[in-house]
Amino acid sequence: MVQSEYFSKLKNKDLFKPFGLIDGVWTESDRKETFAIENPSTGEIIANMPEMKKTETIKAVVAAEIAFKKWKNLTPKVRCSIVRKWHDLILDNIEDLALIMTLENGKPLSESKAEIVYASWFVDWFSEEGKRSYGKTIPSTQSDKRLLTIKQPIGVCALITPWNFPAAMITRKVAPAIVAGCTVIVKPAEQTPLSATALAHLANIAGIPKGVINILVSGDPTDIGEEICANPVIKKISFTGSTEVGKYLLKQAAGTVKKTSMELGGNAPLIIFNDANIDSAVEGAIASKYRNSGQTCVCANRIFVQSKVYDEFAKKLSDRVSKMKLGDGLNEGVDLGPLIDKPGLEKVSRHLEDAVSKGAEILIGGKQPPQGGLFFEPTVLKNVTKNMVLFREETFGPIAPLLKFEEEDEVIRLANDTNYGLAGYIYTQDINRAWLVAERLEFGMVAINAGIFSSELAPFGGVKESGLGREGGSEGLDEYLETKYMCIGGM
Ligand code: SIN
Repeated sequence: MVQSEYFSKLKNKDLFKPFGLIDGVWTESDRKETFAIENPSTGEIIANMPEMKKTETIKAVVAAEIAFKKWKNLTPKVRCSIVRKWHDLILDNIEDLALIMTLENGKPLSESKAEIVYASWFVDWFSEEGKRSYGKTIPSTQSDKRLLTIKQPIGVCALITPWNFPAAMITRKVAPAIVAGCTVIVKPAEQTPLSATALAHLANIAGIPKGVINILVSGDPTDIGEEICANPVIKKISFTGSTEVGKYLLKQAAGTVKKTSMELGGNAPLIIFNDANIDSAVEGAIASKYRNSGQTCVCANRIFVQSKVYDEFAKKLSDRVSKMKLGDGLNEGVDLGPLIDKPGLEKVSRHLEDAVSKGAEILIGGKQPPQGGLFFEPTVLKNVTKNMVLFREETFGPIAPLLKFEEEDEVIRLANDTNYGLAGYIYTQDINRAWLVAERLEFGMVAINAGIFSSELAPFGGVKESGLGREGGSEGLDEYLETKYMCIGGM
């Protein structure tokens, strides 16, 4: 099949953009090289994209630097009104954007649509919040001086986004950056660049000027990554991805002392106390664990259940999981799609084998379904202990490991026993306990009686090796602003 035929169902055919975007121009690779995008549900090649490297990166940086000179001087109101149009266009094209996402990422169409809505919320929020980049006046201790601060855009920013949320992680970074007055170079994940280029096309139509948003695509991010880190014009790197790559970027970016935001790996505990509403805890665990087939940084990675409700929870969760439908995300009624690639599948299998070899019991799932490929059955494991690999490492797949605990202090110690600190979840009906346990959990975000908590209104981010900085909320705008202090003397 010709690659564009996969996209023949698009109502807006212009959304299929198998190119990079530099200075407002859809661009091929300087060397005419390409890399293939595969549908993880079928293994078929759905598109070939230009393999961009250092030379294209330099061109994008020059374009972003030139665009910055004008863009930063527009009033926030003007910038925000253009970004608002982008928001409207995203929602107008939701069906097409969701189809593109499911083709390249594999997630069920319903989840893709939900992600496009989630992505649009960031554009909505920042098209308002961008008008509120307030400085402050500072009461002076010297009568002849007046002190104040103003906020200014950081400059050219490089935004490196993951494949698990091909649209929302782009809007969560691009929207605050551009309303703040920055210009950006986006490097989407090699598996899912078509969602990025479709969004960029809509940004062009909305009237975001050329050079403000540039997109670099590549099947091997090394070259682009090195240039992004070394180029002194780039003032900020915002990255969402693994802790390993985050640490590498932090080291490389130190050479030019860039600002960084890092949204890295997680190892989320989900704690269910004896007094929890078990049905609601089961629904929360399903939502948190199996969203995107377990491939989110905030997925419950360790489920701690207090002893009195352990068996009841295990049974109800397994029953619920047994009804989940695995398959090609384009098919009706599918709850879980495939894993993104072979390394992802191998990791899930390795975690499962290790756990079973050390005494874990499979309650449901635990293997690949007959269709094979990159699919893995949603799995529930009982009798999980802290000496198993999946206690320490993020599985990034559909395995729900259940651990039994007796005491509150014990579960807090176990939950915090990790280098990661992104998200944690608590299920209890005791509001005092919920508050006090949330305070003691060493995580950047804690959800209480909720399996999904992400919101454009609130700061998303982690502590410890889960990252630096926050995305969303007013904090998300601050990440793209510098504070300038001014002192006026001679009063
Ligand atoms: C992520 O997994 O990186 C993001 C999840 C979210 O925004 O909810």
